[in-house]
Amino acid sequence: MSMRKKTLLFVVPVNWAPLWETQIQAADPDLIIKVQGRDEYTPTDVGYALSFRPPPGLFKTLPNLKAVFSLGAGVDGFLLDTDYPRHVPLVRFVNQWLTMEMAQYTVLHTLMHHRQQRMFDALQKARQWRQGVPQRKTTDTRVGILGLGEIGQMAGERLRDLGFPVAGWSRTKKNVPGIESFAGDAELKAFLARTDILTCLLPLTPATQGILDAEAFAAMPVGAAVINAARGGHLVERDLVAALDSNHLSGATLDVFETEPLPESSPLWTHPKVTVTPHVAGRTDPKEAAQFVIDGMEKMERGEPLENTVDLSRGY
Ligand SMILES: NC(=O)c1ccc[n+]([C@@H]2O[C@H](COP(=O)([O-])OP(=O)(O)OC[C@H]3O[C@@H](n4cnc5c(N)ncnc54)[C@H](OP(=O)(O)O)[C@@H]3O)[C@@H](O)[C@H]2O)c1
Repeated sequence: MSMRKKTLLFVVPVNWAPLWETQIQAADPDLIIKVQGRDEYTPTDVGYALSFRPPPGLFKTLPNLKAVFSLGAGVDGFLLDTDYPRHVPLVRFVNQWLTMEMAQYTVLHTLMHHRQQRMFDALQKARQWRQGVPQRKTTDTRVGILGLGEIGQMAGERLRDLGFPVAGWSRTKKNVPGIESFAGDAELKAFLARTDILTCLLPLTPATQGILDAEAFAAMPVGAAVINAARGGHLVERDLVAALDSNHLSGATLDVFETEPLPESSPLWTHPKVTVTPHVAGRTDPKEAAQFVIDGMEKMERGEPLENTVDLSRGY
């Protein structure tokens, strides 16, 4: 390992920085950490950067940048930087605990729709003891996962283990035991047509932007429910409200939105069929993230290949 001191530039909102800084500094006391917007730094000193939504054009001003680490599993914030130096590897945060939390969120909300929990909440409020509510059988409730990657695969496997017929949609065909694989644009409609409870776990790219729109909802069976835990840009909120109001869809759970924080004026806050959470489906644990950055930098210094690098032309 090189004995020269490394400089890591944090490109995150200044008030976020201390949380990550403390953890990373504890894991590598020799590392020089600079926070963009707070500390002075010499661009030629910066060897590494850590960010989530970098200001476009910043990375191209750092001539000795060796790698950039994403604080999130999704890297759509980086794709907005059309000047990103394409020879610098961009490493996304893939972490078992984050993946697990995302799978939990998917299972929680799939079950909530399947078991009609919102209706039982309303019955409780009205002090009504009603046992005769029809319940669809698990084996008749077809679950679908849009994006069968790190997170989608684990979510699908857990739901499969609970007895649901599960299918996933991805760019390339998958061979996951007990999960039916649909791939590519040509198979999207067939996938949606067999899906009663859908969770979106896709990366946000030009190809997946607005994928959850009126056309997609129309392709789904009457009474279907939609969960979006990926990115707000996947969903056309206006089309979702229309599909819920026409009773084509029975419910939705949304963790991510076209505008975040969700504006107070949004009809989604009070829609009787919508559950809203504030982009908390999966969180990046600072200690895990610190280890991820330290490991990545060490690998780079040893000349070993980095894992989970983003294919910038593909967008994920
Ligand atoms: N709400 C939150 O708190 C939160 C937290 C973490 C992550 N996320 C979101 O979750 C997303 C997924 O993360 P991940 O780690 O599972 O990503 P991943 O491992 O890269 O998986 C992405 C999956 O989407 C598929 N895909 C991509 N583009 C496609 C296209 N055009 N058509 C069909 N399938 C396509 C990929 O297909 P192939 O396998 O064929 O390549 C892959 O199966 C992230 O990008 C992020 O936006 C949200």
